Amino acid sequence: MSPIHRVNSWLILKKMAYLLEPDANCSICPRLFGFRSENKRAYPDFFNAPVPAFGSIDAKLLVVGLAPGLKGANRTGRPFTGDGAGDLLYPTLIKTGLAKGNYQASPDDGLELVNARITNAVRCVPPQNKVTANETAACGDFLTSEIKAMKNLKVIIALGLVAHGAVLMAMGHKKSAFKFAHGATFKIGGSESEIMLADSYHCSRYNTNTGRLTAEMFDDVFLSAVKLIKGRN
Ligand code: URA
Repeated sequence: MSPIHRVNSWLILKKMAYLLEPDANCSICPRLFGFRSENKRAYPDFFNAPVPAFGSIDAKLLVVGLAPGLKGANRTGRPFTGDGAGDLLYPTLIKTGLAKGNYQASPDDGLELVNARITNAVRCVPPQNKVTANETAACGDFLTSEIKAMKNLKVIIALGLVAHGAVLMAMGHKKSAFKFAHGATFKIGGSESEIMLADSYHCSRYNTNTGRLTAEMFDDVFLSAVKLIKGRN
């Protein structure tokens, strides 16, 4: 190994050291552990583990969703991939320059995120797509470590109220410190590296089918985030 490669490997390891990842068989949340065990029996070909973030740790934007869908991210192992919500999220990222390639609902579709990373407030699939406050708090350590490890982070987009609260708690605020509102932005970081939080309604099928969230409303949130990133170099 050349000296340059050695230094690069060391830098990567140093960065990784800050990134706390749940064990593939994480049992911190008994209900989620139990559901995952059931799913392993029912769907042995699925990923069935805490779904890791997607995108570079050096990105300036972090998108935080709720939790993997049973037959989407929990099946494929990539956030929002194969989920109804991903059918809006990924094309929006491509349209706004935050991803390149073709989204084909599969982790091997070659899609690349550009200056963006996606994770979930809760890493494991919950029954009926509903997480408890305890599960969100328990998974919060992973979100905190993710945010801390993203040294270039400028903007976090929270998809829905649960993600909004999880991000605030991960940044050391009370869940109620800022009121969730679609399209709202808040300064949430400390000291010089001020981080902005941008809220959006979750891009779930339910929200798009009921008209609570339109593709245009979603585009606007991402276009504003891109402007915020550019203005915060
Ligand atoms: N899939 C995810 O990974 N997260 C969500 O919030 C919804 C679907």
